[in-house]
Amino acid sequence: MLNFELYNPTNLVFGKGQIEKLSVLVPYGSKILLAYGGGSIFKNGIYEQVKNALTGFEIVEFGGIEPNPHFETLMKAVEIIREQKIDFILAVGGGSVIDGVKFISGAVQFDGDPIDILQKRLLIKDLTKVIPFGTVLTLPATGSEMNSGAVVTIESTQEKLAFGGSALFPQFSICDPTVIASLPVRQLQNGVVDAYTHVLEQYLTYPHEGYLQDRIAESILNTLIQVGPSVVKNPTDYALASNFMWSCTMALNGLIQKGVPSDWATHMIGHELTALYGIDHARTLAIIGPNLYRVMFETKKGKLAQYGKRIFNLTGNEDEIANEAINKTVEFFHTMGMQTNLSECTEDYSKTADFIVNRFEERGWKAMGEKQNITLDKVKSIVEMSY
Ligand code: NZQ
Ligand code: ZN
Repeated sequence: MLNFELYNPTNLVFGKGQIEKLSVLVPYGSKILLAYGGGSIFKNGIYEQVKNALTGFEIVEFGGIEPNPHFETLMKAVEIIREQKIDFILAVGGGSVIDGVKFISGAVQFDGDPIDILQKRLLIKDLTKVIPFGTVLTLPATGSEMNSGAVVTIESTQEKLAFGGSALFPQFSICDPTVIASLPVRQLQNGVVDAYTHVLEQYLTYPHEGYLQDRIAESILNTLIQVGPSVVKNPTDYALASNFMWSCTMALNGLIQKGVPSDWATHMIGHELTALYGIDHARTLAIIGPNLYRVMFETKKGKLAQYGKRIFNLTGNEDEIANEAINKTVEFFHTMGMQTNLSECTEDYSKTADFIVNRFEERGWKAMGEKQNITLDKVKSIVEMSY
């Protein structure tokens, strides 16, 4: 097993009715920026629950954080915080609102132009230079509620860029599984596939000595396969909702990544598809992931075979099981309502591979993946195979 440090200061407050605890979780006397998205919180009662729990606090509201949050929008919140001397941010929403708040938190006291946080991928580590924040999660998917990473889009350049740092963990996150009742089917499907792919990014590498991490990862995959198709149909079933929500958090709170190699190239390529065509994040992963495993078959086949045996009970020789495991993954994605070809999501795809390869080259991303052997020619093949 590789050496590791495990640091995760987020107080995860899980279960029905936990939104009430905001009154004690938010530091006493704080002036709060209540950040939210396009308004779903007004229709499903979450806004009222939050406001009721925060009676007595001074609150400034900031809505309109879009899915795949824009730098340009977030900078407006940065100005409000600076002008109004706000000292706590509460993100109420899905991954986009939470990620947006992470950016805002790091940008307010940033020494320089905050766009550098994105374009230079700076790590935000100094706790004295961030605005503390907490979250009320409304969409299980990204794990953003319990990690220190985020992804923000620069609208003007159509770039979707990841950043993070140890100062960007939420102080607390309230995860009430009943909030998923109002989610559209599409978002429920996205949540399952995003979390599933998060596990695969950290698991489908090569056989190693992180036996426990593998078993935890496999348990999350099994649970998502168990509850995913049914939670979409019955989001009010608490057993399904709670296991779905907890699986999403566990998939990307850092735990399964400790001491093991990881890949993340599916996400790096997928982010480009969102930036270019506005395809939902999870849907880009369903398009790219399986083809990445095909192109990188020789590197990944040992682990693909383990995955095939343990998750899908496949038999045969290593190559057969590994190949069939990819097919089973695609089948699961189809069950979860995903389309797995780019041509099903946009008509204008013929130059995508060249565009992405050029961008990666400009950024110096010339070798990705657990063995740094996803080179630009491989990226081109993966994207072309995804058409
Ligand atoms: O904006 P509102 O009106 O709230 O509506 C949202 C949005 O339209 C809606 N929604 C959320 N909760 C709802 C609800 N509708 C009804 N009832 C509820 N309870 O769902 C839509 C999508 O929301 P969004 O936050 O964009 O989805 P998601 O949580 O999937 O987040 C996606 C973003 O997270 C990034 C993605 O790249 C993307 O930008 N990621 C963040 C990661 C991280 N921080 O660790 C990792 C991920 O891999 C991912 O890259
Ligand atoms: Zn993701």
